[in-house]
Amino acid sequence: CKIQHYKFDVEIKNATRLCSSKPIVTINGLFPGPTIYAREDDTVLIKVVNHVTYNMSIHWHGIRQLRTGWADGPAYITQCPIQPGQSYVYNFTITGQRGTLFWHAHILWLRATVHGALIVLPKAGVPYPFPAPYQEHVVLLGEWWKSDVEAVIDEAMKSGFAPNVSDAHTINGLSGPVPNCMSQEGFTLEVDHGKTYMLRIINAALNEELFFKIANHKLTVVEVDATYVKPFQTNTVVIAPGQTTNVLVNTSHLSGKYMVSVSPYLDTPIAVDNVTASATLHYSGTPSTVATTLTAPPPRNATLTASKFINSLRSLNSQAFPSNVPLQIDHSLMFTVGLGLNRCPDCVTGRRVVAYFNNVTFVMPKIDLLEAHYYNISGVFTDDFPEKPPMPYDYTGTQPENFATTEGTRLYRLAYNSTVQLVLQDTGMIVPEDHPIHLHGFNFFAVGRGIGNFDPEKDPKKFNLVDPVERNTIGVPSGGWSAIRFRADNPGVWFMHCHLEVHTTWGLKMAFVVDNGKGPDESLIPPPADLPLC
Ligand code: C2O
Repeated sequence: CKIQHYKFDVEIKNATRLCSSKPIVTINGLFPGPTIYAREDDTVLIKVVNHVTYNMSIHWHGIRQLRTGWADGPAYITQCPIQPGQSYVYNFTITGQRGTLFWHAHILWLRATVHGALIVLPKAGVPYPFPAPYQEHVVLLGEWWKSDVEAVIDEAMKSGFAPNVSDAHTINGLSGPVPNCMSQEGFTLEVDHGKTYMLRIINAALNEELFFKIANHKLTVVEVDATYVKPFQTNTVVIAPGQTTNVLVNTSHLSGKYMVSVSPYLDTPIAVDNVTASATLHYSGTPSTVATTLTAPPPRNATLTASKFINSLRSLNSQAFPSNVPLQIDHSLMFTVGLGLNRCPDCVTGRRVVAYFNNVTFVMPKIDLLEAHYYNISGVFTDDFPEKPPMPYDYTGTQPENFATTEGTRLYRLAYNSTVQLVLQDTGMIVPEDHPIHLHGFNFFAVGRGIGNFDPEKDPKKFNLVDPVERNTIGVPSGGWSAIRFRADNPGVWFMHCHLEVHTTWGLKMAFVVDNGKGPDESLIPPPADLPLC
């Protein structure tokens, strides 16, 4: 194992997209940001130097950070932000993980432009559990706003309404032609005939679940969220913000240009966004006069396409990669996931959209929770997060009388190495919607999923405890539920939130506090000397 050194200079850069220019916050002047490469067992040191006027923090999404919560990155959860003119070295070792992950800003809405791929290769000499591809390519999906994203969410919070959706989706930073800017170029992937390529697809978009397709090409899924899966073929990948998917593509055509389409999956009646981004799979030697073979994106409410994809995911459960699903459960939790309306005397409408787990709208603390936990600072958080919903619901209906939520910085405490089952239930309040829930510090097993109300008697009997897919971000289906299991083998404070940024801003977040264990390797390490101050 090696030490990989990176330097991230946070700087403003002018970027031109959709036929107009604007200044954006970048790492090293790049959009998308630089790719980090490492191998399993490597230690990675990234010095982040903040040259802009925003506070900054970076999260290494999906890296478990065993005992190194100080390097996890969410602002006010595991660190105070890196202030203008300051720097911080993120220092972590990648233990027992390999695959496609990404890094992104974890403060305000800066993730819109501050993100990049994080590729963890297997240990030297260790092959993939499938034939080695000829080449690998990162395919980073994002969004583009013509206006300033921070202004978009600030205005929304003042008005109490939902913010504007993005103006386009992007594939490696480019949207291809879109309705208001037909000259916008798209990304081109050059390929040779007769090879296998691996695409490492990452959804870094702020607020959009996406469909990914390539005209006339089948995709073989081999990995999600940096865990291998039993390979299966599909025409369409569905990928939520925070998720990654590796696919193999066989370049079986002799030549040609084939459209790559990225379009929104919006499983909610109030959706307004319809813009499809396009890229080109270009076979080498194809004459420029050849027209691109097009593909029609799935309808934005293609729930069956999405369910079919999600239900096909299975972990390898092989000798080399066994599924360690916890079979005995110490904490059986159920959290509702939804949106509500709270009074807001300062808002234009007098009401403000809020979001919650178990009717608690999370309030960000003034100093980070990890320091409060480590130094026993009282008054920052409580550890009384409710383990069950506070009131019964019919989760598939809307019940306006239950719109209001309580506010608090409430955590749920787990003993080191205890096991957790968590049922996440969409409430359909205001509107049913698919919520991609991301847990920091752990991978979890997705043991069950259903539409309608979770039935605590019948549904657990149908859980897959043999080869459930292991991941770090799970879609809670619109008007339905998802059940996950994990072992709390990582001491620290671990954030859990919806990876739709607007929902996080509205309060769809909470954190687990995991106590130290008794063994020498079961405790959080002390904070590094350069940990930023609030
Ligand atoms: Cu990728 Cu807490 O986020």
